[in-house]
Amino acid sequence: MTSTTASHAADLVAALLFILSLAGLSQHRTSRAGVVYGIAGMTLALVATVVLAAQSITAGAVTLIVVAMALGAAIGIWRARQVEMTQMPELIAVLHSFVGLAAVLVGWNSYLEVEAHGDAQKHVTADLLGIHHAEVFIGIFIGAVTFTGSIVAFLKLSARIKSRPLVLPGKNALNVAALAAFVALTVWFTISPSLGLMIAVTVLALVLGWHLVASIGGGDMPVVVSMLNSYSGWAAAAAGFLLDNNLLIVTGALVGSSGAYLSYIMCKAMNRSFISVIAGGFGIEAPSGGDEEQGEHREIQAREVAELLTQARSVVITPGYGMAVAQAQHPVAELTRRLRERGVEVRFGVHPVAGRLPGHMNVLLAEAKVPYDIVLEMDEINDDLADTSVVLVIGANDTVNPAAEEDPASPIAGMPVLKVWEAEQVVVFKRSMASGYAGVQNPLFFRENSSMLFGDAKQSVEEILHALTSDPRTQAPSEAALAR
Ligand code: TAP
Repeated sequence: MTSTTASHAADLVAALLFILSLAGLSQHRTSRAGVVYGIAGMTLALVATVVLAAQSITAGAVTLIVVAMALGAAIGIWRARQVEMTQMPELIAVLHSFVGLAAVLVGWNSYLEVEAHGDAQKHVTADLLGIHHAEVFIGIFIGAVTFTGSIVAFLKLSARIKSRPLVLPGKNALNVAALAAFVALTVWFTISPSLGLMIAVTVLALVLGWHLVASIGGGDMPVVVSMLNSYSGWAAAAAGFLLDNNLLIVTGALVGSSGAYLSYIMCKAMNRSFISVIAGGFGIEAPSGGDEEQGEHREIQAREVAELLTQARSVVITPGYGMAVAQAQHPVAELTRRLRERGVEVRFGVHPVAGRLPGHMNVLLAEAKVPYDIVLEMDEINDDLADTSVVLVIGANDTVNPAAEEDPASPIAGMPVLKVWEAEQVVVFKRSMASGYAGVQNPLFFRENSSMLFGDAKQSVEEILHALTSDPRTQAPSEAALAR
């Protein structure tokens, strides 16, 4: 077997491992195996690519590739060990931007190489030159949109810029005009390629990527992240065509299509139009409502919450991003255990985009050993909230905001939320009156049945636990518990 055949066989095995990896990652039970398949596939792909490249380049160039790979791996391992779980989406956004940038560089390199060598290039014959030019242009366009879009997503997710949507006058017309200009430039470039057109498409796509993501509000960022994931896959596939690398085409298409499907599922869960989100909030008007307060709020102390819980028949806990920041999951699990021992029914209501990652809350609760059977999805718990004595909103905000249902002009209008305000009593754990990720004030805080327990969520739950043990008023089990 020649090394070329061996390398193609390795590509095939790597592609299969990537498919197994995606399948494994789709379920909790098999996710570890999914990660292992992914690592094995990527290792095989890298080795096969370097072995194949070694046949046509100098030993010095191979050494440079290996050094670059070692350096990249070292930086990757260092960052992965440093990153907090709450920072994962911003890290993913940065990684997507690298894929986009790589596709732009591959496109430029491919153009300059063909310019330098003409159609004497080894895999671009004269009759295929037009197709090659179109590939270069499309690759650069997708890559540049992904690059700046991902950088804006990173800046929003890491709170370096405001997450509120940018609303330029005629923003939809601007996006449509940019797409029309891209199509026209592609036709022109295919017929008569030039450096000027290359610069024009790169600048156009960089500005479009920035505008598309800047126009999307904070509440829709989960969809944007998975959409950029999809774009990065298509950018990699485009680079695969230019590099004549089948594995890159297959892998890019896998990432592109699975990312697109994930975006579609998330749009459905959040009651958003898929087309509107991928087109940078197409059809969404300027939102109203900022983070100004909307009335009087009532404060409550940890001891009073302990009393409330002792008397409760049923308690629902709705965790959010703040629980992750405070790392409050362990005391929350302990509080759950204590209340259940006293006969109080305790359940969790988890919103699909609570926190900053799909499944973020489920992972934290599983880590703290909260039993799976009391952790319910939003749709499973929403109808029961009206019949609940106390809801503890621990570090959640946008996902429990009634404005999504009641204010059609709100940036989060139409997004399904946990209807916690329907419970008898609601206690909101947070540090201040600040708004949530979407930058919208929450009318829940000013409802008559709501009270604010200010402070770090972990500390507040620990104070409640302390009060449950030491305060005589909280020693009696609930009446409901005695009746059972
Ligand atoms: P958010 O709306 O982000 O609100 C979190 C709340 O936690 C804040 O109001 C904050 O208020 C509070 N908080 C922060 N640190 C705290 C601490 N140490 N102790 C107590 N409270 C603390 O949370 P959510 O309801 O989970 O909603 C998630 C949002 O993120 C949605 O808008 C969603 O679209 C977006 N998003 C989600 C994802 C995914 S995939 N899940 C990805 C990207 C974006 P204080 O500052 O006053 O304490």
